[in-house]
Amino acid sequence: PLYAHVDQDACIACGLCQMLAPALFDYDENGIASYRPDHNTGSLALSAQQLQAFKLAYQRCPTGAITRGQQPFAPTRPHA
Ligand code: F3S
Repeated sequence: PLYAHVDQDACIACGLCQMLAPALFDYDENGIASYRPDHNTGSLALSAQQLQAFKLAYQRCPTGAITRGQQPFAPTRPHA
């Protein structure tokens, strides 16, 4: 399985990923992208139908902000 996550520190709000894969990417009020199906938590595997669109966005993001992995991404939790 393949999991996806947007590194929001690397995103420059170019808008390309949503143009290429509107079902997969959403934006906050500043245009910073997030992975839509799991609210950018990297916890939900891509479905087979989503793979093609995901790959396009992944390859074309100008800053490499879209990341992928074969394991779920670890949840980011604040330190106490
Ligand atoms: Fe950001 Fe890359 Fe999408 S810069 S808006 S994650 S194509």
